[in-house]
Amino acid sequence: MPRCPIVAADQAGLDRAVRLLLDEQVVAIPTETVYGLAGLALHEAALLRIFAAKERPLFDPLIAHLAVPRHTVNMLDYVERRGLVDLEQVSPALRDRLDDLMSALWPGPLTIVLPRRATVPDLLTAGLPRVAVRMPAHPVAQEILDRLGVPLAAPSANRFGRISPTSAEAVAEELGERIPLIVDGGPCRLGIESTVIALDGEAQEGAGERFVLLRPGGLPRERIEERLGEKLALRTEGGQAPEAPGQLASHYAPVRPLSLVDSVNEVDYSDGTPIGVLTWRPLVADLPSHVEVRTLSIDGSTEAGARQLFAQLRALDRPPHARLYAERCPTDEGLGYAINDRLRRAAAR
Ligand code: TXA
Ligand code: MG
Repeated sequence: MPRCPIVAADQAGLDRAVRLLLDEQVVAIPTETVYGLAGLALHEAALLRIFAAKERPLFDPLIAHLAVPRHTVNMLDYVERRGLVDLEQVSPALRDRLDDLMSALWPGPLTIVLPRRATVPDLLTAGLPRVAVRMPAHPVAQEILDRLGVPLAAPSANRFGRISPTSAEAVAEELGERIPLIVDGGPCRLGIESTVIALDGEAQEGAGERFVLLRPGGLPRERIEERLGEKLALRTEGGQAPEAPGQLASHYAPVRPLSLVDSVNEVDYSDGTPIGVLTWRPLVADLPSHVEVRTLSIDGSTEAGARQLFAQLRALDRPPHARLYAERCPTDEGLGYAINDRLRRAAAR
């Protein structure tokens, strides 16, 4: 396939995207977190195309994306009517808490893993008893979802294990020869994937009574904890069979080896090999010309750092650089927690 077209998110572009999607094809679309490779969530042919384009193993389940309701409704009823989740398996007390969480934090970078309906394709959930749902807060994603009227599966639009794309050009670099269309919505506002939470213990019989964090992301866990009035249990260190494959140790990875440091001053560049360095400092003085330094956040904010992380890592992951270094985010609070999670996985081999 020749390199696929990038179209503007105008009426003509959106028409084309909607037509392809209804035809069970895949289309890359912008979300507020990262670009997603979208396909109809309840259609196996579309799901198979997503897995094939990404070279994603079938054991890694996808997130179903929902339109924002057109009218004020009970959020949980609305979600139930989309045909994905089975709320019979959720206790009344938990239903209220879920409804409150969704009403407060959707649309936005929060994915919730809930008991699935039996009719949901196994491909979407990788055969797991649960399905992941989210309501993205991007006008282009929302317009497409609203026009389709059915949920879209959308993993990040990168080849499996690689850096997530935060611009249309980055999608073209990842998947350009393999997909028919990319809708350009500009650079992603958040730059890091959604936070994934689940009900604890739900994989066993009956629903658990606590929420667990499966993947830190664009919604700081403190915000979720504030709303829930309790701490999230942490389950983000994947074992052999991770609950969320984003937990796989090596993920979000550049091609060149990446090492993490606390300060750019620790980097050994004495052998003269061209290297790339990501820093949190606004200015780094006196480095030789074979060291390319890129700043993640001029003002040190984690918001700017998250927005720049994948874009700058991708920009450095090119010739002539032989290896890369990144400074850990100085804080583990707010988005710093998700940024450090991604850096660790990007550096894992
Ligand atoms: O921000 C995002 O979430 C982006 C945009 C495009 O919406 N999507 C995204 O999808 O990051 P993906 O497929 O790259 O990551 C989905 C994560 C994976 O870690 C996956 O294992 C987890 O969600 N997940 C999906 N379904 C699950 C399930 N049923 N149980 C546990 N984890 C699940
Ligand atoms: Mg991904």
